[in-house]
Amino acid sequence: MNAPWTPGRGSSTREPFVAFVCDDATADQVRPIVVELGWAADKVNKGGLRNAVQTLSVSASPNVLFVDLSESGDPLNDINSLAEVCEPGTVVIAAGQVNDVRLYRDLVASGIQDYLLKPFNPDQLREAFSQAQAVFNAPKHSEAAVERPHLTTAIVGVRSGAGASTVATSLAWLFGEKHGRSTAMLDLDIHFGTGALALDLEPGRGLTDAIENPSRIDGLFIERAMVRANDKLAVLSAEAPIHQAMLSDGSAFFQLQEEMKSAFECTVVDLPRNMLVQHPHLMSDVQATVLVTEMTLAAARDVIRLLAWLKSNAPQSAVFVVANRVPTAGIPEISRKDFEASIERKVDFVIPLDQKLAAQAAKLGKPLAEAGKGAKTSQAFLALASRLVSAAEESADDTAAAASGNKSLLGRLGGLKAMMPSKAKK
Ligand SMILES: Nc1ncnc2c1ncn2[C@@H]1O[C@H](COP(=O)(O)OP(=O)(O)OP(=O)(O)O)[C@@H](O)[C@H]1O
Ligand SMILES: [Mg+2]
Repeated sequence: MNAPWTPGRGSSTREPFVAFVCDDATADQVRPIVVELGWAADKVNKGGLRNAVQTLSVSASPNVLFVDLSESGDPLNDINSLAEVCEPGTVVIAAGQVNDVRLYRDLVASGIQDYLLKPFNPDQLREAFSQAQAVFNAPKHSEAAVERPHLTTAIVGVRSGAGASTVATSLAWLFGEKHGRSTAMLDLDIHFGTGALALDLEPGRGLTDAIENPSRIDGLFIERAMVRANDKLAVLSAEAPIHQAMLSDGSAFFQLQEEMKSAFECTVVDLPRNMLVQHPHLMSDVQATVLVTEMTLAAARDVIRLLAWLKSNAPQSAVFVVANRVPTAGIPEISRKDFEASIERKVDFVIPLDQKLAAQAAKLGKPLAEAGKGAKTSQAFLALASRLVSAAEESADDTAAAASGNKSLLGRLGGLKAMMPSKAKK
């Protein structure tokens, strides 16, 4: 829980487990399980929540605390008074007779690990206590040593397959590896995300759990749910079952971004276009947006639309247009010059098409930027990562990227089409 740390009540004197129950029947149920887990039976006290608050205000908090709310008239309020006296790190399990999902959610949101409905059976107790112990023992994330402004970067693919996820994993890896920043990668392609796959990791259930139970998202959740790629990079990605729609009002994603912001120095969000449309508020706290595009007619149209969208929906974000999969030989669908004329701004970075490298990266389970050290493609990634890191330190008004001018979209595309004689001939 979250009472301020009081040095007088040092952690060395912490008990592994203490319970405060309201009645003998509950005490009789709890004691055998406590003994089974190797804890002291005499730590099962009478007096419920009120006694818990009194006791913990003058003594060290245990690692795991079981508290009976049966006699509490206002459980939520009382839990908050418990939070004031209970030291950080204590994992709290509550029990009570009120079967109300809203109370459950509110209690969890207040920092309770679990709420058990009375009467319970020994298995429920055993499972809840073991889980609490595991949570207590889980490694805590190390705090960022240096105070640096958090950088949240959203990577948006202008058209599918443009390489947004490739850019996202490479950037996330470079933020850690080259810039020494602890980085979280949040892959919001819930059903088909490749964030974990590209790093040769199992995505786990973290992201789907977060969507199903947004109220459980907190610092501890992030620690347990994220999959580590290396000591600087952790990933939250999913391969949600494709027979199941993952319904969310977006609050889970927003909350995840918030928690990542406090636990990491950088967040890279692989943000599919449909997510942008559905949950525009996900962009509200993003410092830099990378639009990953190919140099095609359809992509030019969508760069124009996305730039305009960003200008009105995320004016605080710096925007970078990255042309990816740009052929080094042969004729591209649209030349860089024509593409830039159409979108009425410069392409900031060009990443060449390098199929050999892509195949190698897939085989090695490494980001493109790592697999192709020294290659031209990797240099483009390096330059992009450095630019983003410095953009994080620049002011938000330095946003270079909004679409400008008042020509209509159709008008600009018309102009573009006119510039494509080779296509027109076909
Ligand atoms: N510069 C590049 N050179 C060669 N291949 C590339 C390059 N960038 C990406 N690819 C390949 O293109 C394919 C699509 O990339 P990726 O999955 O990153 O695209 P995406 O925009 O995230 O797609 P989706 O819309 O499905 O999410 C992958 O096979 C990837 O390896
Ligand atoms: Mg993708």
